[in-house]
Amino acid sequence: MRITPRPAAAALDPYTPGRAAADEEGSLASNEPTFTVAPGVRDAVMRALGHLHRYPDPLARELSLRLAEELGVGPDQVLVGNGSDELIYLLCMAYLPIGGVVLCADPPYRLHELVPPLMGGVVTRIPLHEWVHDLHTMAGIPADFAFICNPHNPTGTVVSSSALEEFVETAPVGLIIVDEAYIDFADDPERLTVLHLARAGKIVLIRTMSKMYGLAGARLGYLVGPVEVVDMLRRVRAPFSVNSLGQAAGVAAMNERSQHRRFRDHVLSTRPQLCQLFLEAGYQTVPSQANFVLVIAPDEAQLVARLWDHGISVRPGTTLGLPGTVRVTVPSEAGLELLEHALLRASAR
Ligand SMILES: Cc1ncc(COP(=O)(O)O)c(C=O)c1O
Repeated sequence: MRITPRPAAAALDPYTPGRAAADEEGSLASNEPTFTVAPGVRDAVMRALGHLHRYPDPLARELSLRLAEELGVGPDQVLVGNGSDELIYLLCMAYLPIGGVVLCADPPYRLHELVPPLMGGVVTRIPLHEWVHDLHTMAGIPADFAFICNPHNPTGTVVSSSALEEFVETAPVGLIIVDEAYIDFADDPERLTVLHLARAGKIVLIRTMSKMYGLAGARLGYLVGPVEVVDMLRRVRAPFSVNSLGQAAGVAAMNERSQHRRFRDHVLSTRPQLCQLFLEAGYQTVPSQANFVLVIAPDEAQLVARLWDHGISVRPGTTLGLPGTVRVTVPSEAGLELLEHALLRASAR
């Protein structure tokens, strides 16, 4: 056998997932939720196990309907994916021309820069301005695609919905994709979201059920966009990419509103405590609207190693395109105590 990868595949710098710590409360590298699924979700998955010999619904109709109701859009404007990451692949596969220009932030969420070259696109990274998307510069560059992550990963910063509206009206960009993976942890998600632009077919919005819905392992994300985009992506995708256990978990998780509210409240009240801890240990943080905080750490490698010695895993900024920083997930109460203990010892450096 003689096989040669396509040049874009051979050149790929693959995605590196965060390291898990030995104990869950110390695993602060992947912005995962700090709660396990509710009994209702567990029961739904157990029931779905009885049908595991059958293929799943290729359209994930029940979950799409529930999401469409909640979002106030038609079911034909919603597409459920195997994580929102799948939706990024599908959009590039279906719409990005060979040689097409893709704008994203510098640094971006990794998948926004990793996938387009695989599909023949060329990525132009626009440096953040004071940690925030520089929409003004982006709007001056003609492009086929633009990815805007709001709140942004890895900084947690936001651009206002009015700034995004202006960008959508003025930017010479074919397809604008707004990734709202962390929108539920913003102080005022209703004000920040650009769901209304997606309803109106002006952008494509992607969101995930991995964070607020607590389903990172079930791999569920969704997209809201024009009917013809949803239809096209359904045509090009692998037919059964969203498995039946995930679909069951997603539908059941939509009934757990009080759990989501509690988790959101936890993130919003713990985020400032997390920043304060780092401040007391001598580190500044970037104001965050997400379930993580970016810490400015000139001693990045030493800090990561010291925390690891205390059973805590965080994301080194170097792996995110931001050397001299570390990204830390908002922890559980036990995780915060662990961190406090580690930082108090670490600050005696
Ligand atoms: C900005 C952003 N978009 C998308 C994703 C992927 O989410 P999913 O788990 O639905 O693939 C993540 C995951 O961390 C993310 O940070």
